[in-house]
Amino acid sequence: MCGIVGYTGNKYAVPIIIDGLKRLEYRGYDSAGVAVHERNAIKIVRAVGKLRNLIEKTANLKASGTSGIGHTRWATHGKPSEVNAHPHKAGSIVLVHNGIIENYGELKARLIKKGVIFESETDTEVIAQLINFYFQETKDLFSAIIRSIKDLRGSFACAVLNEKEPDKIYLMKYESPLVIGLGDRENFFASDMPALLPYTNRIVFLKDGEIAVLTDKTYKIFDFSGNEVKREPEIMNISISQAEKGGYPHFMLKEIFEQPEAFINTVRTRLHPDKGEIVLDELNYKISERFSSIHIVACGTSYHAGLLGRIFLEELAEMPVYVEIASEFRYKKNFFNKDTLYLFISQSGSTADTLAALKKCKEAGMGTLAICNVLGSSISLEADNTIYTHAGPEIGVASTKAFSTQVSVLLLLALKIAGEKNLLKRKEIKKYINDMLSLPRLMEEALKSSENIKDIAKKFHKYTNFLYLGRGLSYPLAMEGALKLKEISYIHAEAYAAGEMKHGPIALIDENMPTFLINPESPHFEKTLSNMQEVLARGGKIIALASNNDSTTKNYTDYIIYIPHINTYLDTLLTIIPLQLFAYYCAVLKGTDVDQPRNLAKSVTVE
Ligand code: F6R
Repeated sequence: MCGIVGYTGNKYAVPIIIDGLKRLEYRGYDSAGVAVHERNAIKIVRAVGKLRNLIEKTANLKASGTSGIGHTRWATHGKPSEVNAHPHKAGSIVLVHNGIIENYGELKARLIKKGVIFESETDTEVIAQLINFYFQETKDLFSAIIRSIKDLRGSFACAVLNEKEPDKIYLMKYESPLVIGLGDRENFFASDMPALLPYTNRIVFLKDGEIAVLTDKTYKIFDFSGNEVKREPEIMNISISQAEKGGYPHFMLKEIFEQPEAFINTVRTRLHPDKGEIVLDELNYKISERFSSIHIVACGTSYHAGLLGRIFLEELAEMPVYVEIASEFRYKKNFFNKDTLYLFISQSGSTADTLAALKKCKEAGMGTLAICNVLGSSISLEADNTIYTHAGPEIGVASTKAFSTQVSVLLLLALKIAGEKNLLKRKEIKKYINDMLSLPRLMEEALKSSENIKDIAKKFHKYTNFLYLGRGLSYPLAMEGALKLKEISYIHAEAYAAGEMKHGPIALIDENMPTFLINPESPHFEKTLSNMQEVLARGGKIIALASNNDSTTKNYTDYIIYIPHINTYLDTLLTIIPLQLFAYYCAVLKGTDVDQPRNLAKSVTVE
């Protein structure tokens, strides 16, 4: 839930580390710190609050050492405070950590008994003290790290400096992300690639259970037993502008507008219009031959993508699908079935609950598949197979383009299985493929309604409660629209299947409870229209989302957002755009921190 970054080379380290922390701030932003080697000592500076506080405090450190580490924190153990901020020091060891140590209480008690004195309330300081404790015995930091890892239970991506070894940075990774960037007589590491892209695109992915030792000219990787592992760097063709705001006021807005590109990057190479075939190279088997049902597990926005996926898979591929929230799945009694494919959806690939659910399935011997956006992430490495979404880095905390690419992959899966089972003829799949190829143009058209949406947001952003209603495919979209509004504008919003209104929620309707009604062309159109009239009859105000060939809805409300219509399944990728934009403009008008909403962090790598 935090971001770590570091540098060793021939340039001053602090400006490079601060620059990396800026790109990682989305991972946590309640405190931050840096540590840099300076004349046989390590200078540590930490500050509570946003990164700008640390930047002010490090102004006179710009021209200090050429090797150091940094951290941006999202508090788990111990409140946000300077003493709880990283880096943590123990003897000559200085350490930053992303993750959570589950047995830290037990380890802390053990170390206290041995006379170790703790400064902070964090689980991280336990790792630093533990390594230092073994270091006293072994006099060798590498061996001390290996000894310590054996005692740790939980997840960690750590970087360790030693006052006595100014030329080295030690890294250790288990279930939290960590990548190395290779430069020319300089090396880098970070929790995520965007922090490294301004400096290098030669990336080495560390795997769970690995330690790395970086110097300015070398990198060595070892397993947790100390055996060396050889790994070549990969050249990543992700441009830095992909990871920056590109002229937009917020990452979220940029990422909403990137959806046509993200969609085409995700589907292009997988569509074979000539053959009328969907090709998913990541799958070396036919799902329909091995499995008769699918169980989707995910959290938050990825869960909503899974709910849409269920409808695609059930209707197109006639596959029974069950969808579950990972935090529930991981602790409940599961009735595992070898005929079921367990499918995990995660943008970050490091969500703790989803990862734990995946491990539970693997331990039970189930077949697993992941849909992930972050390359080399824990979930993608753990699953039997992974289909990547290619949305590019998503920096805004509220997920947008990751969602639409997840939905796209789920549609590809449904079409592929439908083809395997001969439920759709090549000609029909060809038609879907051609529709997909024209979708980016229609997404651009949907994005053009942003001014209209901004005007509607001006009229509605002061309300404190909202209902979102939809049927069929529009119900998961209502859930996602409501989540977007809640998380960035802090307006309370509830989503209901429109048919459920009469079973309770209709009692809420009055002039202070606006309803966002999602009703593009679909077999449910007439029924949802009736729900709209029920709301209006009770004095409720309606914002309606309709297909641009709909001439009825305008008779009932002045607040309409039109989207193009292509086919009911692909329309979901058009419908989501106004829902994201409406939440975005409400948040901007309310003056909230759109890219870093309060209490949230991008990757929820802890429970
Ligand atoms: C909401 C949002 C979260 C994530 C959830 C799962 O905008 O971003 O609800 O969708 O935390 O994250 P991933 O997909 O990384 O597993």
